[in-house]
Amino acid sequence: MTNLVRSPAWLALTAHYEEIRDTHMRDMFREDVTRFDKFSCRMNDLLLDYSKNRINEKTMALLMDLARHAGIESWRDHMLAGDVVNCTEHRSVLHTALRNRSDNPVFVKGENVMLKVNAVLAQMRGFTDKVRNGEWRGYNGESIKNIINIGIGGSDLGPQLVCEAMKPYARRGMRALFVSNADPTHLVETLKLVEPENTLFIISSKTFTTQETMLNAHSARKWFVDRVGDDKAVAKHFVAVSTNVTAAKKFGIDPNNVFEFWDWVGGRYSLWSAIGLPIALFLGMEHFEEMLQGAYEMDRHFAETPLEKNMPVLLALLGIWYNNFFEWQSHAIMPYSQYLQRLPAFLQQLDMESNGKTIDRTGHRVDYLTGPIIWGEAGTNGQHAFFQLLHQGTKPVPADFLIPALNNNPLGLHQRVLVSNCLAQTKALMLGKRYVEAVEELQKQGLSKEDINEVVQHKVFEGNKPTNTIIFERLCPKTLGSILAMYEHKVFVQGIIWNINSFDQWGVEYGKVLAGQIQKDMEQPGNVSHHDSSTNGLINYRKRIYFEEVEKNKIV
Ligand code: F6P
Repeated sequence: MTNLVRSPAWLALTAHYEEIRDTHMRDMFREDVTRFDKFSCRMNDLLLDYSKNRINEKTMALLMDLARHAGIESWRDHMLAGDVVNCTEHRSVLHTALRNRSDNPVFVKGENVMLKVNAVLAQMRGFTDKVRNGEWRGYNGESIKNIINIGIGGSDLGPQLVCEAMKPYARRGMRALFVSNADPTHLVETLKLVEPENTLFIISSKTFTTQETMLNAHSARKWFVDRVGDDKAVAKHFVAVSTNVTAAKKFGIDPNNVFEFWDWVGGRYSLWSAIGLPIALFLGMEHFEEMLQGAYEMDRHFAETPLEKNMPVLLALLGIWYNNFFEWQSHAIMPYSQYLQRLPAFLQQLDMESNGKTIDRTGHRVDYLTGPIIWGEAGTNGQHAFFQLLHQGTKPVPADFLIPALNNNPLGLHQRVLVSNCLAQTKALMLGKRYVEAVEELQKQGLSKEDINEVVQHKVFEGNKPTNTIIFERLCPKTLGSILAMYEHKVFVQGIIWNINSFDQWGVEYGKVLAGQIQKDMEQPGNVSHHDSSTNGLINYRKRIYFEEVEKNKIV
């Protein structure tokens, strides 16, 4: 048994779970009309209402004991101070330094990294200003209208989410496109939208070795050179963002156009670094810096606010409560904002790549559940797709609902309808509908007793389904920065409690190695037999189709 599950805090929560598991939130709200005041908190314009959770004051006190038992405050301080908290890669974890808007130095191995952070920000500012004011021109004198970011995972999802979310702040006539998938369709369809003369490619890769990115980068370069007929023109149309400056230069990027970041920035935590270059180009550096400011303010909140009022800590502990004591396996993200449609995908990587781990920091297998399955969809679309399961299915799914009070596109009744739907869902999930209420409702509709008996069970909602609601004034760069930083710290807190390293991702490496081997098998005609029978069968089936096509001269 691990220390965690033997700890007094864990055992107390296990016992408390037995006390509270059958209590309905409907009764909790009836008995205590101050729940909202007790179980909500604010940071700037962000309001977190966590009162619709299966908790009482004792639950929260016990969860706080667990956080303190895990040493959250001291781990947090170590991370923020630049100590090595990524234990398997022996690295500091300092995405917070990238958005440190104070004059305070941050040290890694005795070096104040703020000097280079600020230098790259200045480089980004100089470059984005030039591109945006038309001073930077393509090979034939045209100014840049299209930015294509070629990257994957952390070198794609963050910038993509922000560029989508911040469209109202974008410059008219500037377009940000993203290519990530190895499927050539992604690149080919994107290239159909642009002309080489006014397109800037950003090759974004922390390592500059990621297969998909390198494949897309080389194909994009070929497409470009084929069209303009001049290799030298590449310098005006390709820039790179990487920790591997040597590899970026080797690819042929002008050294002046390589934007650096460092190994103490995790890929999925990198949108605050030069990986945010597409954001800065699309929105302008001032808006990128507003986003950094919002994240910085959340960092201060995380560092300075008592755990009891600390948003990331509260979200983390509530997640632990359901994940480890109710043993519910997934967590949904429901942004009631079309602009936040990529938030679930971004949080999938942030959370699942960080905390999808089985081995703890001491190298032992854990005997408790770690990171949840994260999924979601922009509201109200989700309501007409999978909410049925949330309301009446057999698998409880705790969820975060995020909504701006005001819309960036005020239009008639739309925002009122949207907010009403969001609040109605969390209310319905919490309250449910009892048998007697369902009967009454059907009676009012004039149904006969027989008809009521036939249908009434289907109209009952168990309720007692927990949600957090995060409401904010309106979606702007600063608030978005705060929201994203809040989730980063939530993931960190959970990782500390589970005693896992949230900052490595060894699990994605194995498949990459096997893909390399299978790729070699694909090149040779004739059947393979050295894999398992399933893999052999699938390889041989594809090879047969492929080589038949080659024979027919359809594929060159
Ligand atoms: O395969 C997973 C991963 O390593 C992610 O952690 C990372 O965000 C992504 O690949 C891309 O890596 P890179 O930025 O080095 O190309």
